[in-house]
Amino acid sequence: MKKQLILLFALLPGMIMSAATVIRPAKQANYFLFPIQESAPTVRVRVVYENQEVDRFNIMLALTDADYTVPYDISRYDVRHLQFVVDGESKLLTDNTTDRFDDSNREIWRPEFHHMPAYGWMNDPNGMYYDPATGLWHLYFQLNPYGSKWENMTWGHSTSKDLLHWEHHQNAIKPDGLGTIFSGSAVIDKDNTAGFGKNAVVAMYTSASENQTQSIAYSTDGGMTFTAYAGNPVLTADIPDFRDPKIFRNEKTGEWNLVLAAGQEVRYYASSNLKDWRYLSSFGKGYGAHGGVWECPDMIELPVRGTDKTKWVLLLNINPGGPFGGSATQYFVGDWDGKTFKSDHRTTRWMDYGKDHYATVSFSGAPDGRHVVMAWMSNWQYAQSVPTTQYRSGNSLPREIDLYEDAHGELRMGVRPAREVRQLGKRFVLKPKKGKTANLEISNTAGDVVVITYDPQRQVLLFDRTASGRVEFSEDFPCEVKMPVFARKGDNMSQLTIDVFVDNSSIEIFDADGRFALTNLVFPNEPLTIYTQY
Ligand code: FRU
Repeated sequence: MKKQLILLFALLPGMIMSAATVIRPAKQANYFLFPIQESAPTVRVRVVYENQEVDRFNIMLALTDADYTVPYDISRYDVRHLQFVVDGESKLLTDNTTDRFDDSNREIWRPEFHHMPAYGWMNDPNGMYYDPATGLWHLYFQLNPYGSKWENMTWGHSTSKDLLHWEHHQNAIKPDGLGTIFSGSAVIDKDNTAGFGKNAVVAMYTSASENQTQSIAYSTDGGMTFTAYAGNPVLTADIPDFRDPKIFRNEKTGEWNLVLAAGQEVRYYASSNLKDWRYLSSFGKGYGAHGGVWECPDMIELPVRGTDKTKWVLLLNINPGGPFGGSATQYFVGDWDGKTFKSDHRTTRWMDYGKDHYATVSFSGAPDGRHVVMAWMSNWQYAQSVPTTQYRSGNSLPREIDLYEDAHGELRMGVRPAREVRQLGKRFVLKPKKGKTANLEISNTAGDVVVITYDPQRQVLLFDRTASGRVEFSEDFPCEVKMPVFARKGDNMSQLTIDVFVDNSSIEIFDADGRFALTNLVFPNEPLTIYTQY
């Protein structure tokens, strides 16, 4: 007996040492509220109904003071047969049932015209597609429904008719026996190639547990609810970083293609039914930036402005290793023959020269030949410590991309705000006196200021947020970023016209000629409403 006990201690020290608390909701209600304290350790909660474990998740269970609460939906259960087994203790974990969870805003930095979750943590946009039958843009996203830091990856879901006003829906894909649900993509299978039904929405994502494998799930109710395919996973590999599948259609072969991130490269696959994937090729060795892991790739055929030509672009997110530290989006312009991608250049091109533009991917099936992308508006360097707690992170404004030729004959990515959101910007002409720079200050009466400077001699745009308000939460936050402006042949560089979009915690700058974008977070003590040019 003694021997057995010693063995148990040796094998399971963590489990034996931590006290478990069993709690039952005191009354029938829609939600049970868990108190969260962001400085508390993360503990596991198992949801047991009629003796069966039906769910599990991890929370920062409040020990002394709750920073906020998160709701767990118990409406479908008879609470007399329901219990939460929590690997930890908390004096605050008493009966906390409610019928209505109050998610009305409590943050001064909550965006007014950007997509963000109603509460909880968000990172990458996922599975974005446009549905021509309903005119809805679907946006799924990496969500932690049980706290405002990264955990319990689930696909949250929102839709919009105009890319500006977003409606939140119930979570679309939840962790299952294969793991939590990491990033991925979705397509409408209009020809029923997968056998889930004509026009079924098929999502492909990474199932993340000890290893990363690719799974699919389908929806036959217009993307609202998904069923995981019983034959998952559909793609495996024996490398640790193998994730973020993006499906794109190969019109020439009538097949599906897939690009995903595999460590320091991307891999391409093909399939006729979205279930059986055959390896085609890899790309990446010797190309672009490799200061971090490659994540969230996308393949888009883009028009070259002013011509009838198109070129393929590989969007590739990298973390860390961005131009100003941490996360950023690079891209490669080249050719795709249905099997291999050939890049025209070896050196990195950055898509956005701010610090808060990551995990950029495009909407599948955007109408009228549009190419619409969105980025997660944060940076892994400090995303989990920005000074909001009810929610953390929003997405960038939707952008439309194309290619333009610069004065050296290189193709660069052009970025414009999507036409639906353009009217929210303020236009400024930065016109320096000879030999000088032109500055735009965006400030408030609390003394917070952002300085934007155009220097025509160096052909750069600078963005300084060192005095923009709350910056102390991370040493990586206060910074000045510098962006080269890639001119086209014949461009007048003596002045620059920009459209500036200021929301409660972000500033996005777009070139009026559609050459660039620059995206940065700010946390001013009061809204930034004063514009001064000199
Ligand atoms: C990028 C990323 C993805 C991954 C997801 C997990 O921000 O690391 O590679 O799928 O976030 O939440």
